[in-house]
Amino acid sequence: MGLSPVIVLLVLPSIFAFSCKDQNNKDVDWFAVYKMPIEKDNTVIDIAQGLAFYYLDVNDPSQLRPSAQPLNSTNQAIANTLNQFYAVKDDKTIFHVMFNDEPYGTVSMSSQMANRVDSRIYRPELAAVQFGHTKGTLFFDGQTGVWLVHSVPKFPPPDHYQYPDSGTDYGQTMLCMTFTYAQLKDIGTQLFYNHPDIYSSNLPTSMASANPDLANLIAGKFQSGANSHSSITLTTKGGQQFKSFAKTADFNDDLYQKLLAPSLRTPFIVESWRRGSEVPLTCGDPFPVNDALTIKVGESLEFKYTKDHSKLARSALKTSPYVCIGDINRMTSQYVRGGGTTCISNDKMWNAFNVITTQNQC
Ligand SMILES: *[C@@H]1O[C@H](CO)[C@@H](O)[C@H](O)[C@H]1NC(C)=O
Repeated sequence: MGLSPVIVLLVLPSIFAFSCKDQNNKDVDWFAVYKMPIEKDNTVIDIAQGLAFYYLDVNDPSQLRPSAQPLNSTNQAIANTLNQFYAVKDDKTIFHVMFNDEPYGTVSMSSQMANRVDSRIYRPELAAVQFGHTKGTLFFDGQTGVWLVHSVPKFPPPDHYQYPDSGTDYGQTMLCMTFTYAQLKDIGTQLFYNHPDIYSSNLPTSMASANPDLANLIAGKFQSGANSHSSITLTTKGGQQFKSFAKTADFNDDLYQKLLAPSLRTPFIVESWRRGSEVPLTCGDPFPVNDALTIKVGESLEFKYTKDHSKLARSALKTSPYVCIGDINRMTSQYVRGGGTTCISNDKMWNAFNVITTQNQC
């Protein structure tokens, strides 16, 4: 008896043409999101519930547009994108990894410190500090895949789309990029430096040898020692370059001042979670980094940085129009955490992300 053709088919890797999906569930090369903190201004649907967001993508990069659907809807770009994975999550020929320094399913300090208005403020610093301060989801078949960079605690669930209560109060940022499979190796290297806290993963055996850093990472290893940072240019399926910056715990300094700004040779303003010991401003530096104090997105009310959990870095000069979305804060506590950011140079998007209205400075 010959080998059944059915069995041969079963061992072939599946092809799903994974892509970031836009607000209408159409393939899109990349998109970015500014999720709003709770505001009572009715400018975007469910902004009072902390479920509102603004959206921008490669096809319309000159404006952050209010989303007609809130984050708890399954009919918007983030859910559309993740739902491709959830629909086939049990297919063992698909690679995926989900990581978060506040992993899905963990109990936060906030629920233990009942009725304190600021009960969540110090929560990120109390998270498992041996891991990087890094959040994201990747899923790939053997041809294409998606990298979603984000700042939302306990997101996303491993098996279904849901926007968590832990992500409603504050502002958040997200960046989705579509890549060909060949780029996964380099993304894996960046993750190997960042040392993420992984709460769901599958690396098919057939993909392991081509992606050694991912294989090692999923086996619990990570970069350490003198070689403490990695900068890689990634190219999306549609041909857009993104510069990815990653650091390890051994870097022992601020990602933005000591890696991002000098690498791109331009000053930056960073909006991140700042509580406790802040990174001192380095006034004499040729490429100084300041911190955002207030933010205003679209028609929505301006808000203070204390209402924002985003990890956004925007270059200060239009001659080098970078927008970076990542997962580590600019705070001294983050010196000894892995983490990174991913940057695009695009003057339209840079204009659209002109959201930082005041900043500290020397
Ligand atoms: C989303 O949340 C809002 C506010 O709590 C609620 O009114 C709405 O029904 C929810 N939508 C979905 C699709 O769950």
